[in-house]
Amino acid sequence: MEMCRPPAIPLCEPNLNGREKQYIAEAVDSNWLSGGSFLHRFEQQLAEYTGATHVIGVCNGTSALQVALTLAGVEKGDLVLIPDLTFVATANAVRYLGANPVMIDIDARTWLMDLDLLQDFLENHTYRNSGGCFCRQSHRRIKAVVPVHLLGNICEMDRLNRIAEQFALAVVEDAACSLGSFQNGRHSGTTGLLGTMSFNSNKIITTAGGGAILTHDGLLAKRARHLITQAKSHPTEYIHNELGYNFRLVNPLAAIGCAQMEQLPGFLQRKKEVAAHYREAFADYEVAFQQLTPGTDSNYWHAAMLVDESRSLVSALATENIEARPLWMPIHELPVFREDLYITHNSVAPEVSRRGIMLPCSTSITDEQLQRVSQVIGSALDVRIKN
Ligand SMILES: Cc1ncc(COP(=O)(O)O)c(C=O)c1O
Repeated sequence: MEMCRPPAIPLCEPNLNGREKQYIAEAVDSNWLSGGSFLHRFEQQLAEYTGATHVIGVCNGTSALQVALTLAGVEKGDLVLIPDLTFVATANAVRYLGANPVMIDIDARTWLMDLDLLQDFLENHTYRNSGGCFCRQSHRRIKAVVPVHLLGNICEMDRLNRIAEQFALAVVEDAACSLGSFQNGRHSGTTGLLGTMSFNSNKIITTAGGGAILTHDGLLAKRARHLITQAKSHPTEYIHNELGYNFRLVNPLAAIGCAQMEQLPGFLQRKKEVAAHYREAFADYEVAFQQLTPGTDSNYWHAAMLVDESRSLVSALATENIEARPLWMPIHELPVFREDLYITHNSVAPEVSRRGIMLPCSTSITDEQLQRVSQVIGSALDVRIKN
């Protein structure tokens, strides 16, 4: 029999030391499970914090993206521009709609969609007419662009919104990882047409499973609520006027979210300390960290760095019962998306993915644990230098 022991230092675990239990109990006692006051309160808290006019709780970040893309007008046969380096959910959501993603390579410093490359592609490989923007090669409509604010850094949104406007593209921000990240005073996910968030258990706040759609547009918000409640168009009769989904966030999970939001300032503080620790610890080594887009105040959601032989470092840490992971694989390398278009000059995403390692960064990690992680990494890197 094989025994799995939990890592002594986990990668990124939830921190449930606030009023989570109390609020869940209150939600259960209220007998309101599907909807209820915690859901309303959580949506309000998110709206106040982010400045989004409307926030709609959804069952997870992937579903939030699927609905947001639907609201943005993405239809079967369309193309949607996404960065090549992201979690697979961004690309999956596009596919759920019968559309295909086009992967745009990333910037080597920020690890986010390369906007020079995006602009170059749109200027030289598409054409516009009254129906929108079309790919010259396939004549398929390009309906939307999805900047992903990876690890807490934010794509240069003023420029991206300008490009999108020029080419009639809807902007859906994948802000799954970036609650607490601001750019020039504006919260991630609030400058495009729509933004989406994830509250799965490794995110900066969690509801176990959950997500949200953000928008300033009242009509889109109304339609989002409609779509996620099975497109029910009559208060009592079972009349559904379009294809809807059962994607609501439920009240007891929103209750966890309310308790988590109370702790967000403390979580952000700790994430910043953790990021600063790693940057300082490896300042003299041949490693690279994500550089922030100018004007960005990151939530530093997940610590990560680029280093040669990242996989062997993951193994060296595992031997010490410390959890680390490689960065995501480029989407264009995944079997499901291999046939889709990949736009690149010099294949940055594969290099960042190959050298990327995600490091332990729970908000509950202690200073001693951080020291231990960097000691193990430092020793592994020292051995390599000597060899
Ligand atoms: C960039 C990105 N997009 C989308 C998602 C999907 O969110 P969820 O896991 O809540 O469906 C995630 C979550 O892990 C993510 O990291």
